[in-house]
Amino acid sequence: MTTFRRAKESDLERLVEIHLAAYPDPCSIDVRMRNFTHHPFGGLERLVVVEDDAGRPVGHAFLFPLEASFGGAKVKVGGIASVAVAPEARGRGIATALMRRLHALSDRRGDAVTMLHPSRQGFYARLGYATTSSRKRLAIATRSVPEPWRALARARVRAATGGDERALYRLHARAAERATGWIARPKRCWELFIARERRILLVCEGPRARPAGGASATGYVAFTLAQEQLRAETRLEVDELVADDDEARRALVGALAAMRDQATEIVLEVAEADPLERALVDPDGRRFGTSGVEHALGEIVGGPMVRIEDPSRALAARGYAGSGAFDVVVREPGGDDGVALGLCVRGGRAEVGPARGRRRGALQTTRAGLAAIFYGALSVTDAVALGMAEAPPEVAARLDAVVKMPPLAPVDAF
Ligand SMILES: CC(C)(COP(=O)(O)OP(=O)(O)OC[C@H]1O[C@@H](n2cnc3c(N)ncnc32)[C@H](O)[C@@H]1OP(=O)(O)O)[C@@H](O)C(=O)NCCC(=O)NCCS
Repeated sequence: MTTFRRAKESDLERLVEIHLAAYPDPCSIDVRMRNFTHHPFGGLERLVVVEDDAGRPVGHAFLFPLEASFGGAKVKVGGIASVAVAPEARGRGIATALMRRLHALSDRRGDAVTMLHPSRQGFYARLGYATTSSRKRLAIATRSVPEPWRALARARVRAATGGDERALYRLHARAAERATGWIARPKRCWELFIARERRILLVCEGPRARPAGGASATGYVAFTLAQEQLRAETRLEVDELVADDDEARRALVGALAAMRDQATEIVLEVAEADPLERALVDPDGRRFGTSGVEHALGEIVGGPMVRIEDPSRALAARGYAGSGAFDVVVREPGGDDGVALGLCVRGGRAEVGPARGRRRGALQTTRAGLAAIFYGALSVTDAVALGMAEAPPEVAARLDAVVKMPPLAPVDAF
């Protein structure tokens, strides 16, 4: 029998031992210890430990209380991280039991969803987790950025100063409201973000810049220059680009392009449908193609996974772009009748009650399908096309106008 409890200081050595086996990367013992005690989203009080019959810890996982925006509403999210089971205890259902425990704790707390960054998706897919939007990780030549963007940068972009902190918080919070799945960043997270030695921070001023630092800032970009050894090629890796408007975004990308005499490439992650590269000329720069692919402009990367425990609560918690009434049936393949819910969406929010109509006109899906559509930004039409949901085409199109939200753009890893 396994038991669960909150982690304590005296567990640390054993926890690091389990962690080291589960994540054998070169990360030092000290960093692992700090990760348990001073993770930016919480410390040992957020870490759940599994004990075996003899009372020895054999597994651990974090459950952070996060808040993120979905459809313009702030939603409580259970952030799950550092899931690990000791080598000698694997394959006995311990991780599965631990995940169930975390889902129950998160449900009790009133979270709408749990979210995690999986190292392997398969383990979590079995538990009802769904993938969220993929993103484009562009690798673009610094010389491919249009000259007018660089001119805009010369007029607007400057180095960040100590007085800009509040402007950064404000810009990030505003962008998070518009975005899908962006996590409200606690102070400790910001401190780490700003304190990173090699990170360079630039700020874009609006057209009417005021002398007081940051008051009229319309965006910022944080990036790191990466060079494997002295004299080797330098790449510019963007950690975060936040802009209030399109002009600020062009100016900030223009500012990155001003690094062209040092860095050959800019690596920048954007939403999958973002057309940024369409404005560039020869974005693949000095890279050459193959007979199959003439111009590779970057790669596609997967997003976090999400899971819904309580469908009614999850559907009522997020915001909506349109209005309408419809039924949703959630059922596992080969399972029983499932849950049938009726949604009435008005003024951006949904009232969720018993289903009203006939099942034929309803959206029918699984727990994972529900999470993919309502929290992973997969359109109903796409979910139907992928066999993840069923709905007549006209119903899918009507629902898309109600449930659509922007794709998940880069989300803080936790
Ligand atoms: C992943 C991990 C936590 C699983 O721990 P565990 O206690 O052995 O897991 P359980 O016994 O509860 O479940 C194992 C089941 O999951 C399945 N599973 C595991 N990884 C899977 C994957 N990638 N795809 C599909 N199924 C997977 C196994 O086949 C097994 O199924 P079975 O019971 O039908 O045979 C453990 O292997 C571990 O610590 N790995 C290293 C760290 C890690 O990868 N953490 C999770 C990612 S953040």
